Amino acid sequence: MSHSAKFTIELPRKILFGEGAAKEVPNLAKAFGPRRALLITDPVISKLGTSSQILGPLQDSGIKTDVFDEVEPEPSMRAAEQVAKVARDSSYDLIIGLGGGSSLDMAKLASICITNPNPIADFIGVGKVPNPSVPKILLPTTAGTGAEITMNAIISNREEHLKLGIVSPYNIADIAIVDPLLTVTMPPSVTAATGLDALTHAVESLMSVDLNSFCEPLAIDAVKHIFRSLPKAYRDGKDLAARRDMSLASMLAGISLAISGVLAGHAAAYSFTVTVPHGLGCALALPYVMEFNASACLSKLGAVAEAAGVKETEVAEDKNAFNAVAAVRRLMGNVNSPLSLREIGIKESDLESMAKNMVTVKRLLAHNPKVVTEKDALLLMRRMFEGKPLQLSEYKVS
Ligand SMILES: [Fe+2]
Repeated sequence: MSHSAKFTIELPRKILFGEGAAKEVPNLAKAFGPRRALLITDPVISKLGTSSQILGPLQDSGIKTDVFDEVEPEPSMRAAEQVAKVARDSSYDLIIGLGGGSSLDMAKLASICITNPNPIADFIGVGKVPNPSVPKILLPTTAGTGAEITMNAIISNREEHLKLGIVSPYNIADIAIVDPLLTVTMPPSVTAATGLDALTHAVESLMSVDLNSFCEPLAIDAVKHIFRSLPKAYRDGKDLAARRDMSLASMLAGISLAISGVLAGHAAAYSFTVTVPHGLGCALALPYVMEFNASACLSKLGAVAEAAGVKETEVAEDKNAFNAVAAVRRLMGNVNSPLSLREIGIKESDLESMAKNMVTVKRLLAHNPKVVTEKDALLLMRRMFEGKPLQLSEYKVS
């Protein structure tokens, strides 16, 4: 497999993985010597009682902790400004993020806003945050986004249907705690969408021109775990072995994404996931982007086929790439994930503007093994709209 000769590893200082790891929060928090902490989460996690599992022991250990539990899915700029205001008003010196990608991204945002007084719009882009953040501990309650690992915080621009990224090393968690027990209450639809997001991170980071020898085994392992355990976790949320596999896969894929990057699938999804959940959109784009990129990364897709258990021996490379894409589609079908834009209510008349928006996501397209022109993007959107797979004969290297 071809690798990039140069890479930089920027990850949380400490990552705890395992059932019950969330119990370590008070001890770990104490080490920061906080005057006042802020726990950031969403209303569903609050209602399920997951946030009190973290809050109670924190308060019992003498750490004054306030709660903000109003994070909305795919947060808008207005919602982000509200989080920033809450965080700045009380000058918290420790942030704890608990939830899916949106809650963890808002926890990152809170941590940088306390030490950086500028308007949030100034932070959009790569390396635009001037000062280090206050410390943060991030705990995912889903298995897929990898937000506890990465330096990205994403905000939705609802008016222009764009996703804005704050990409800064100061967004990286000091401590990430991946506790599979926190994921057992996820409903099947969220299990499917977030699990397929993790698959997209693994497969896209493998296809990335910035793939390196550090990330490759992590991404391959993530693919294996997801094919083995996502349908089980989807069917039975209490299947702890499956939940453990999915949490591990999410973390491994998150590390691979953080270092090697994701590409055209996420860029495509950003054009319609302002209203549709991120994971569902990324999954929908994944098989089409694998097909689009196939001729530039046949051996990498062969490795995906092997990890998915569908690799054939003594066949040409394009057949195994084809098998990998078919396996992804089957897995999506097994967890009732939509395979076309038509199914999720996108209008044909929106495809052109979606293609235009997709090619503006240059930060991600820079990792793609093939150049994506606006014409390519529109063809991709059309295929995603129709839900039509490519035939094997269309995989030939041109
Ligand atoms: Fe993602």
